[in-house]
Amino acid sequence: MIVSIINNKGGVGKTTTSINLSNCLAINRKRVLLVDTDPQAHSSRGLGIHIGAEQETLQDIFNTKYEQLYALFYDKSIKDIIIRTKRRDLDLAPSDTHLVDVIEKLYRTYWFFREDFLLRCLEPVKSDYDYIIIDCPPGLGVLAINAIKASDFILIPCEMSRGSLDGIADLLKIIPNIKGESFDNFKILLTLFNYKYASSNKYVMRQLAPLKEKILNTKINRNEPLNRSQLSNKDIFSFSPQSKGAKDYSSLTRELLKIWGDDEKQKEPNPNPNLIFSNHSISIHCRSIKRRHI
Ligand SMILES: Nc1ncnc2c1ncn2[C@@H]1O[C@H](COP(=O)(O)OP(=O)(O)O)[C@@H](O)[C@H]1O
Ligand SMILES: [Mg+2]
Repeated sequence: MIVSIINNKGGVGKTTTSINLSNCLAINRKRVLLVDTDPQAHSSRGLGIHIGAEQETLQDIFNTKYEQLYALFYDKSIKDIIIRTKRRDLDLAPSDTHLVDVIEKLYRTYWFFREDFLLRCLEPVKSDYDYIIIDCPPGLGVLAINAIKASDFILIPCEMSRGSLDGIADLLKIIPNIKGESFDNFKILLTLFNYKYASSNKYVMRQLAPLKEKILNTKINRNEPLNRSQLSNKDIFSFSPQSKGAKDYSSLTRELLKIWGDDEKQKEPNPNPNLIFSNHSISIHCRSIKRRHI
């Protein structure tokens, strides 16, 4: 299943959710690929992965796909850029700032090609993973449209703010154009929730009332360890497994697995969910084992 984590607005918890949902799915023995489509590469960094100059990223794959439109023999697969993370069962397709240059190229491509780039890139690895999680950039540009087009399920983080609500409204206007009127496979996740801001919370919930059925029961509370884990380039389960943030993301994962009909199939959680490459720096591993799928 391909899941996009998207909201037009920045700073609403897209990357925090992508990193921690991916990690928690992997702890539950799901095979997960996190695809970072944000040129700011926060997901790549947030997993503690240093993207060296020699590391190929999503922009190399997009560039190749673009060239393929004109030269069919030119071949490169997303498998070439996938790197293992410190977490067993979690791989990453990294991003870097050069992804911005590709956006320009995509705009110059025929529309029926440019919206399908990501989908076509992911096809060769779709069956290797139980879940492919796409961390989207803010905005509803060509990368976001590619992510929506590729997705089976869309998760919309919503901070309790005006901008976040506007982001949802914009998104809900374009989703039917991309996925068709009948597409209903999306949920809203309340993030950065602070119960002390009672009147703001009440206001946002009133605005979201028509979408009540779409709001997940799990709320991600504002939690300092979640912010500190990002500062330390770690997921919350490695940084502070007992924190409220870790509990919230475990509860989100359980709720989503239930919605996806995958809860009974949950295998025994990994008995040692923490680092599997504890004695080595991840950047060395990035170089030495970056090609997992040969
Ligand atoms: N639940 C939370 N509690 C505290 N800080 C959070 C929480 N979720 C996200 N943050 C922080 O808020 C900032 C924006 O989050 P991020 O996930 O990067 O948003 P986005 O990807 O939507 O731009 C980051 O500094 C992150 O560490
Ligand atoms: Mg982000």
